[in-house]
Amino acid sequence: MAVAAAEVLRLKVAVLGGTGGLGFGLAARLALAGVEVVVGSRARERAENAAGEISRLIGGKAVIRGLENSEAVRDCDIAVLSVPFEGVDTIIESILPNLSSNTVVVSCVVPLKADLRGYGSAAELVRDRIPSQTPVVAAFHTVSAEKLTKLNEPVGCDTIILGDDREAKKRVAELAYKIDGLRPVDGGALKNTRIVEQITQLLISINKRYKIHDAAIRVVGIDDARVFESWR
Ligand SMILES: NC(=O)c1ccc[n+]([C@@H]2O[C@H](COP(=O)([O-])OP(=O)(O)OC[C@H]3O[C@@H](n4cnc5c(N)ncnc54)[C@H](OP(=O)(O)O)[C@@H]3O)[C@@H](O)[C@H]2O)c1
Repeated sequence: MAVAAAEVLRLKVAVLGGTGGLGFGLAARLALAGVEVVVGSRARERAENAAGEISRLIGGKAVIRGLENSEAVRDCDIAVLSVPFEGVDTIIESILPNLSSNTVVVSCVVPLKADLRGYGSAAELVRDRIPSQTPVVAAFHTVSAEKLTKLNEPVGCDTIILGDDREAKKRVAELAYKIDGLRPVDGGALKNTRIVEQITQLLISINKRYKIHDAAIRVVGIDDARVFESWR
């Protein structure tokens, strides 16, 4: 269900790791929806190349550019962390000087086989590394990069939004609604992300088993209007 334009705040979103599979797809979908997007990378040139490729895919109407990660987060409303678990510590360290407490940090990181170093989930590790006044939300774990990059098809699945700050979760849900066919379902507290990160690992093994690339989830039993109302 699309949110009427007037109801939606103008958003500037940084996608850190936007040169990779999931981040590139999210950046492209958001740019397609008219969101101002900054692609972040460890190398500015790679970020500029990815932003240029997205502009070409969308046909020039995208408001998108590429910057090094630490510059990409400057003045953004939402910063999506879309990097491998192994890169989380260094990326966070690099962005902290320019990260505002008004920015919502979104983790879509899945640890795969990595050692969680005593944390229940990658999102909880991210929470621990980010200053407490900056909200952390977890989302987009169950959306496949492959589906996102097929820009002319609705993604047709749910994403579970988790976090301990209600207003921050609402902002991320608004963002998710901008992606055609994506429904944001409230998954409760950030600590529940440990379950969702494992669902992604299950989806990866289903992909392998059925030789596909876009297994996803859909929660049945709640209609779209009810989900939409839950974010108001
Ligand atoms: N792909 C999916 O469908 C999918 C679905 C759900 C969740 N996820 C999760 O989302 C995150 C991103 O997935 P992905 O498939 O997009 O990953 P990816 O393509 O392997 O990496 C994304 C970007 O992260 C940066 N990066 C790579 N290694 C890094 C390191 N050690 N330190 C800092 N930055 C590093 C690279 O950007 P630069 O080299 O340009 O800096 C890379 O392009 C992962 O945690 C993954 O588990 C992925």
